[in-house]
Amino acid sequence: MTDRITITRPDDWHLHLRDEAMLAAVTPDTAWHFGRALIMPNLVPPVVTRDEAIAYRQRIMAACPAGADFTPMMTLYLTEGTDADDLVGAARDGVITAVKLYPAGATTNSASGVRDIDKVMPVLEAMADSGVPLCVHGEVTDSDVDIFDREAVFIDRVLDPLRRRLPALCVVMEHVTTSDGIDYVRGGGDSIAATLTTHHLFINRNHMLAGGIRPHYYCLPVAKRETHRKALVAAAISGDSSFFLGTDSAPHLDSAKLAPCGCAGIYTSPNTLACLAQIFDQHDALDRLDGFVALHGAAFYEVPVNDGTVTLERTEEAQPVPQDRVTPEGMLTVFDPMVPIHWKVAG
Ligand code: NCD
Ligand code: ZN
Repeated sequence: MTDRITITRPDDWHLHLRDEAMLAAVTPDTAWHFGRALIMPNLVPPVVTRDEAIAYRQRIMAACPAGADFTPMMTLYLTEGTDADDLVGAARDGVITAVKLYPAGATTNSASGVRDIDKVMPVLEAMADSGVPLCVHGEVTDSDVDIFDREAVFIDRVLDPLRRRLPALCVVMEHVTTSDGIDYVRGGGDSIAATLTTHHLFINRNHMLAGGIRPHYYCLPVAKRETHRKALVAAAISGDSSFFLGTDSAPHLDSAKLAPCGCAGIYTSPNTLACLAQIFDQHDALDRLDGFVALHGAAFYEVPVNDGTVTLERTEEAQPVPQDRVTPEGMLTVFDPMVPIHWKVAG
């Protein structure tokens, strides 16, 4: 039985760090163990221009603990008013790594997102020409589409037509939650990849809704039925380089989660690595954890893998869920995977 495993210092290819007090509270939880993270731009107002990305990056660096070896990789939030030259210049100069497409209204802080994809086609063409990856929140928002079907319908109505129109565009289907998404990415060639979150590898919709509603498991895309969760786990542990970690760790204060209309988002940064070690171990796939958390994403984004390593060790006793974070504005609950976790980051 493997009791210790050393992996390459990992990357989180989908992370929400927020701003101000929350940014200060959550950044250390990622910065201690991850080499890089792709920072989501859905602030209020969103990060739309090169200059806003530079300023946000500086605020993140100021929130990093001294001595942490962490590089935020920035994204821009695509709007119908995005300036293609500003965007392409920011990518060319290394200010941004990718651009994020939120269908308007799809999720937290997405009001400025795209309503009509035709309106952003010139920007997407410029991105395809310049090799700037597009990260998509892959859900339609039409009120007649059931929330559990929104990812599958997005593939048919938006993603596949877009990729046929712009075959050179590199796309990341973020936080895939369905076997439909997995199948689409698996058959999609080198120009498409998918991130998988930690929480979607653990929870299905029953965990959220059966026996009482658990607001801390509400996120978008919403957790689906068990067959889908199993497909996500199979993809994560498969060693297929099209799939890599993007935690989508999305902190919201308890006061915003435990409300009549609670926010979507689960905070997983503190225990993501331990949870992943647990699930890969359970499936006899610890040897593939490095690929999922450190190698596949770096290869897709064409950056060198990180220097340095992280060691995880198995523990006799189950590890407690990390304590809720105390922020100046209130409490922040950490993801409870609901199964005993017998792994922790060593040291
Ligand atoms: C994210 C957030 O809170 O910013 N919420 C979530 O449920 N994942 C937005 C997102 O990635 O959809
Ligand atoms: Zn997200």
